Amino acid sequence: MDATALARLIRANQPCVVLTGAGVSTESGIPDFRSPTGIWAEFDPAEYASLPAFRADPAKVWRFYKPRIAMLMNAQPNAAHLALAALEQAGFVEAVVTQNIDLLHERAGSRNLVEVHGSIRTATCPACGSRYPREDVVAKLEYADAPACDRCGAILKPDVVFFGELLPADAIERAFELAGRARLLLVVGSSLEVHPVAAVPEETLTAGGRLAIINKGPTPYDRRTDLKLDGSAAEILGAVAAELGAHS
Ligand code: APR
Repeated sequence: MDATALARLIRANQPCVVLTGAGVSTESGIPDFRSPTGIWAEFDPAEYASLPAFRADPAKVWRFYKPRIAMLMNAQPNAAHLALAALEQAGFVEAVVTQNIDLLHERAGSRNLVEVHGSIRTATCPACGSRYPREDVVAKLEYADAPACDRCGAILKPDVVFFGELLPADAIERAFELAGRARLLLVVGSSLEVHPVAAVPEETLTAGGRLAIINKGPTPYDRRTDLKLDGSAAEILGAVAAELGAHS
């Protein structure tokens, strides 16, 4: 029933843009941030995921990141990622805007992808600007707790957005531009609590577009959405893709 209603909404309201958060990757074994078992229940983001924390003690931040990068690289796309890629290929999804840094949408086959919080794809030297692919970073982490720059020896910073850091301007501009043109914005697996991304659904609503939300638990937009499905992203999106004849 829920998937049928959502499939109908997607078919009738094109273009449809999708905004994802950590909830789309939990079924790949990657914990989210703010649900009761989320990462921020165990680690203080100000201590491990903020720019001041990284500048004060980069080795400490890497002690948090090192196991996380390994976990992200070993994770596999789940049915939610695959369904979104299939829906894009079938012409039902124009683009995916993701807050996730895990590369799982790209690995699932999504092509029109906007990574507003960066990703683990590369890390950059804050001192000289040298950029390193994740394979080099992982190789460096084999024999060091924190990866150092080959050129100048400074500790590299992951190319993910830390709290207190500006988002990549081109990515956030593209996200708002897509949301402003979307007739339907489908939010999947996000608490919609972190700005500026939390304002993306507002952009769609202000332009006269509609919202649909797949999320376990509440979001600040629940009273302004045409449809709220409080359940598994993998299950619901798998069923929606099947309803629309989009096969991964
Ligand atoms: N299906 C649907 N919803 C789910 C699932 C699932 N399988 N698993 C978890 N959720 C829901 C959670 O209940 C929660 O409401 O997904 C939401 C994830 O919210 P957050 O943990 O806050 O993650 P997110 O919204 O992506 O956080 C935004 O905050 O810490 C920063 O940079 C980090 O990108 C992140 C940003």
